[in-house]
Amino acid sequence: MLEVRKIEPEMTYNIRHVILRPHQTIEDCKYDTDYGDNAFHVGAFYQKKLISIASFCVEKHPDFPIEVQYRLRAMATLKEFRKLGAGRTVVNYAERLIGERGLNFLWCKGRTSVQEYYSKLGFEVHGEVFDYPPIGPHIIMCKKLDSIQ
Ligand SMILES: CC(C)(COP(=O)(O)OP(=O)(O)OC[C@H]1O[C@@H](n2cnc3c(N)ncnc32)[C@H](O)[C@@H]1OP(=O)(O)O)[C@@H](O)C(=O)NCCC(=O)NCCS
Repeated sequence: MLEVRKIEPEMTYNIRHVILRPHQTIEDCKYDTDYGDNAFHVGAFYQKKLISIASFCVEKHPDFPIEVQYRLRAMATLKEFRKLGAGRTVVNYAERLIGERGLNFLWCKGRTSVQEYYSKLGFEVHGEVFDYPPIGPHIIMCKKLDSIQ
């Protein structure tokens, strides 16, 4: 059974480092958006161990006309816990929180290596693949959410 809940930004740094930025420093794993207004972080726990994370900040992508948008950042699940639904659980939990805030738009710069994962979660591709140094090819993906309010 997975437990999913909001977590503090500092709790994301280790998984960010191990999974997303192994060749960078832990300092590189701290984002300026982590403490932004209305930013939040979500974690999934298996037997009290944090296994999956994602972070959400208010950030407008200029291509989309929606006034207040959330951006998904630093989505990662530990290798040995993948394909068990943890990532989906984290994103679904965040989508509900965003919906409860009366907002309904989420986007991310997704790695092309996991584009299919985002598609399965209902995200759609926007635009062309671009390089995002030092990590590699990315593509913008976005999702219209159901507003709860
Ligand atoms: C992408 C990632 C977060 C997925 O996490 P996860 O916990 O394994 O995802 P889930 O188990 O919730 O998967 C949800 C669905 O997507 C599918 N899926 C998961 N990873 C996938 C992948 N790499 N490619 C295609 N489909 C994938 C699952 O099979 C599942 O499909 P289903 O609904 O048909 O069963 C994880 O693979 C990861 O951390 N990758 C490395 C870091 C990374 O690239 N992060 C994204 C940065 S933009």
